[in-house]
Amino acid sequence: MLGDLTGKNALVTGAGSGIGAGIAAVMAQQGASVAVADLHKGRADEVAAGIGRSAMPVRMDVTDSASVEAAVRLVISEWGSLDVLVNNAGVASAPEHSTEGDREEDWDVTFSINVKGVVHCCDAVKTHMKERRRGKIISIASMGGHAPRLMGGAYAASKAAVLRYTKGLAHELAPFNVNVNAICPGAVWTRFQEGGARAMQRSDPSLAGRAPEQIFLDRYESVIPLGRPQTPEDIGKMAAFLASEDARNVTGQCVHVDGGAIIRD
Ligand SMILES: NC(=O)c1ccc[n+]([C@@H]2O[C@H](COP(=O)([O-])OP(=O)(O)OC[C@H]3O[C@@H](n4cnc5c(N)ncnc54)[C@H](O)[C@@H]3O)[C@@H](O)[C@H]2O)c1
Repeated sequence: MLGDLTGKNALVTGAGSGIGAGIAAVMAQQGASVAVADLHKGRADEVAAGIGRSAMPVRMDVTDSASVEAAVRLVISEWGSLDVLVNNAGVASAPEHSTEGDREEDWDVTFSINVKGVVHCCDAVKTHMKERRRGKIISIASMGGHAPRLMGGAYAASKAAVLRYTKGLAHELAPFNVNVNAICPGAVWTRFQEGGARAMQRSDPSLAGRAPEQIFLDRYESVIPLGRPQTPEDIGKMAAFLASEDARNVTGQCVHVDGGAIIRD
């Protein structure tokens, strides 16, 4: 089976919703035990219950290194090891032109979750993976990290930072047989996108009566050559492949799961 994760222990951050929940479910289907980590424990409980016995819900705030270290310690003490880390927790920032909220605070929050959150999680697993001379780290970046297109500002800059960090970390950990890669999703209908659609409605009165999911589809279908959005399972399948021994010679890469959006002019 391609992407076989039998006997592997994985931790997915932000797995209480959307893409992270999809990654956790696919990894469990592929044979892994999965720690479903989220800031909102209730969401993690719900997703883990849906997956079944191979999932363990864990509360974790990626912005707090003590919280991250405690969650990683818990997983290793319960399961004996951690083979796979997926850095998925992330938030959208306000659009560049937005007049809503405090701009400086928006940059701080976006970077503390999307960038420092990734660093905290990698720091918490690095020593363990180096000692075992095995491990896979996968970070969920975004097509926005390459070309801002419809979404600029703090979010795009934070995802560009994740992509650059991925390459540096891949180089650092390669001598220890640890693979570090990123996935750039295109457009996936989740709470994150629902928030974006509602923000568009607030700033554009002509969208007032439209369903948020329709606003999302109208916004993205035209920029995706394959003409359809992606699903959490699409991202989960790529994550499972990168976490498996089938990808043992893939490191420092960014894989686009975006229906071809990145190749569009
Ligand atoms: N949905 C898309 O179209 C899309 C596209 C490209 C990239 N992404 C990226 O995919 C990732 C997941 O996004 P999603 O669309 O599933 O969003 P989502 O809002 O559905 O899920 C994000 C999860 O992260 C959790 N989270 C937030 N802050 C946290 C923290 N401090 N510590 C731990 N968990 C925290 C939330 O509770 C939530 O469960 C993000 O990194 C996002 O930037 C999403």
